Amino acid sequence: MSIFSNKRILLGVTGSIAAYKAADLASKLTQVGAQVDAILTDPAQKFITPLVFQSVTGRRAYTDSDLWGAEAHVLHIGLSHAADLLVIAPCTANTLAKLAHGQADSLLTVSALAASCPLLIAPAMDGGMYDHAATQANLDALKKRGVSILEPAEGHLASGLIGKGRLPETSELIGHIRLILGRNGSLTQRSVVVAAGGTQEPLDPVRILTNHSSGKQGYALAQAALDAGARVTLISAPTSLTPPVGAKVIHAQTAKQMLDAVLIEIARADVLIMAAAAADFRPKDTAKDKIKKEGGIPQIELEATDDILKAVAKKRLETPALRAVIGFAAESQNLLENAANKLQSKGLDIIAANDISASDAGFAVDTNRITLLFANGRKEALPLMSKMESAEIMIERIAQLLE
Ligand code: CTP
Repeated sequence: MSIFSNKRILLGVTGSIAAYKAADLASKLTQVGAQVDAILTDPAQKFITPLVFQSVTGRRAYTDSDLWGAEAHVLHIGLSHAADLLVIAPCTANTLAKLAHGQADSLLTVSALAASCPLLIAPAMDGGMYDHAATQANLDALKKRGVSILEPAEGHLASGLIGKGRLPETSELIGHIRLILGRNGSLTQRSVVVAAGGTQEPLDPVRILTNHSSGKQGYALAQAALDAGARVTLISAPTSLTPPVGAKVIHAQTAKQMLDAVLIEIARADVLIMAAAAADFRPKDTAKDKIKKEGGIPQIELEATDDILKAVAKKRLETPALRAVIGFAAESQNLLENAANKLQSKGLDIIAANDISASDAGFAVDTNRITLLFANGRKEALPLMSKMESAEIMIERIAQLLE
C-alpha cells in the first residue's frame, strides 16, 4: 500500500515568493493519494489564493477568516488533530519566530500549537535573513523540540542575490515527507541493502558492455523500504534516476565493484535485495587506451564475473544478522522453472520472477508483472502493476518474513 493512502497532510503556506511552489507540492501530494488541507496566512494570500489550493487538492483551503468564523472554536483543533503531518512550506522568518515562541495569532500558528502530529518546516527567505542570529536561534529552539527542519537550498534568491534560502524542489520536499510518514513502518530499525541498475564493464576508456536495466525496480524498492521506515543503502550502477531522499548511495560501475560493495554492506544489514542486472561476463582485458580502427576489428575475449548472490550465500554463516536475501530472475522463457532453480541455487528467501519478453513488463518500462516464489514453496502471482506498487508488496512480504 502506498505510504500516502489514508494520510492527511496539513500544509501551511506563508508569505514568501516560494508560495507558488507550495501549490505544486499540494498538487503532487494529492496525485499520490494524500488528503491535503492547506492553511494560508494573510501574507501568503498576497502571493497566491486559496482557490489555487482548492483546485489542486479538491478540498477546501483555509484562511484566517475561518479562524473567526462559526466553526472557530473547533477548527484549529480539528484540523491539526486529524493530521498525520503538518508541513509548513514555505515558512517565512516571521512564522518561524512565532512558532519558536509559541505565538498563536493566526489559524496556522494556532493549529501548529494544537498539533500532536510531527511538524516539518521548510524555511524560505533571503540569505541574510536565514543566516541572522535570531533566525538561527529560532531554528535551534524548534529542532530541540523535535521539529524537522528542511534546510533551504542554495541558489538564486528573489532579491537577486545568490545564497541559501530557496525552498527545495517539490521532489525533495516529498522525499522528506515520506521519511517522516514512514517513521513507524514495518521495517523500522531494520537495515536494507538494495543493488540496482545495469553494471558497465569497460572495454577501453570509451566503450562499455552493459545491458538494458534502467534501475527503476531497484530504486522503487529502495523507496518502498524507506517508506517502511528502514535505513536504506542503495548500491547503484550508473542510471539516470535520482536516488530517493534518505538513502545512502554507493556507486558501483562494474559487477566487481558491486560485489565488493555488497559484501561490505551486508555485514550490517537485515535484508539484501539484488535487483541489479550485474554483468555475467566482462572483457578479459580492458585496453588502457582507446582501441583504434586502424588496428582492425578487435576480437574481444570475455571472462565470467562472480555471481554476487552466490558469493553472499557463502557468507551467510558469517552474517547472522542478514535475515532475508531477495533476488530477481529476468527470463524470456521457462519463467517459473528457471526462477525456482535460481531461488535454490542462489540460496534465496524470495525470488521475483520477471518475464522480460512482455512489452509492458521488464526493462525500462514503469510496469511489471512478477511472480514471487518463496523458499517455503509458496507462490504469489502479482498482476500487471507499477514498479512502485510491486516494490511496496515485496517490502510487505519481506517485513512479514522478518517478523
Ligand atoms: N546476479 C548476481 N550476480 C551476477 C548476476 C546476477 O547476483 N553476476 C543476481 C541478479 O541481481 C538477480 C539474480 O542474480 O537477482 C538472477 O539474475 P539473472 O540475470 O536472472 O540470472 P543469472 O544468474 O545471471 O543467470 P542467467 O543470466 O543465465 O539467466
